[in-house]
Amino acid sequence: MSNLAQSIAFVHHKGGTGKTTACINVAGCLQKMGKKVLIVDLDPQANATSGLGIDRRSIEYSLYDVLFDNIDMQEIILETDSGVHTWLFSRIIAKASSY
Ligand SMILES: Nc1ncnc2c1ncn2[C@@H]1O[C@H](COP(=O)(O)OP(=O)(O)OP(=O)(O)O)[C@@H](O)[C@H]1O
Ligand SMILES: [Mg+2]
Repeated sequence: MSNLAQSIAFVHHKGGTGKTTACINVAGCLQKMGKKVLIVDLDPQANATSGLGIDRRSIEYSLYDVLFDNIDMQEIILETDSGVHTWLFSRIIAKASSY
């Protein structure tokens, strides 16, 4: 088995089909299996972020700031209570802790 990171995308044209729910649960299972997991929350709704128990009002920086304001990617990774790490997109939800 390769040590390279594997990516899983949860994508569907239709809304409300369980993408976010599936992502959070798959991430939790992989983390329990001993995998190091990083959720990249590209949805400005940030439902995966709030679903992981992170209060979006407490967040300062996000992937938006990485892409447009030169904030370091390492600066925006948040560790959740479950041990899953997440990257956030929306500017409204932004804050970071070190990885
Ligand atoms: N396997 C499931 N069985 C029943 N309900 C589910 C299941 N997966 C998700 N749901 C429910 O369906 C609703 C939509 O789920 P979710 O938010 O994960 O969808 P989504 O595809 O991410 O939506 P959006 O397009 O708005 O981002 C939620 O209320 C969620 O609790
Ligand atoms: Mg969603």
